[in-house]
Amino acid sequence: MLTIALPKGRLAEESIELFISRKWISQKPFENSKELTYEDSERNIKILFVRSQDVPIYVQEFAADVGVVGLDVLLEGNYDLLSPIDLKIGICRLSLAGLQNFQLTNYRRKIKVATKYPKLAKEYFFSKGMSCEIIKLYGSIELAPLCGLSDCIVDLVETGETLRANGLKEIEVILHSSARLVCNRSSFYQKREEITDLIYSLQTSF
Ligand code: PRP
Repeated sequence: MLTIALPKGRLAEESIELFISRKWISQKPFENSKELTYEDSERNIKILFVRSQDVPIYVQEFAADVGVVGLDVLLEGNYDLLSPIDLKIGICRLSLAGLQNFQLTNYRRKIKVATKYPKLAKEYFFSKGMSCEIIKLYGSIELAPLCGLSDCIVDLVETGETLRANGLKEIEVILHSSARLVCNRSSFYQKREEITDLIYSLQTSF
């Protein structure tokens, strides 16, 4: 049996649709249900619905054989995983954003940055030769510069709607991200045939 960790949240819909379209899942699993696993004995697969940031851990620790996770999450962590393919879903970018009058060049002192991505944000400011103070938040990042909690934010932008709705401007794209299929190293050797089959079917007809 192949165990697949799929993300909940922003990537959930697209990943489930992809797996349904490639016939790995026969129907939309349990709409409005709190169940976190789904088994298809005919297909011989088990799906785990996992918070997106936790997908790499489930796969690395062998609780799942493969998983779907955004490149942003992969690069923010430090995981020992095989990352065989770009699924071309969950396309978004990690960007620096701030209030309309925000100018990066105005900051000689430490700049205050609110983000869910402390590592990637630090690397970005380091590459610019700037020092920063990271304010780690877990959501609604756009609120931080509006109420003076931070000077700017480093956050995901998909449609740009949240930035617009809150009067913020995108200043620079730091990373272009999309979902990847990641694979546990041992699983890849033990279940090579099933995983190759999965990779092949997810890769074709793009
Ligand atoms: C993400 C991200 C932005 C928003 C961007 O948040 O952190 O806030 O989506 O999408 P948009 O460009 O299409 O508006 P998410 O919806 O995951 O919620 P969160 O703020 O609770 O993390």
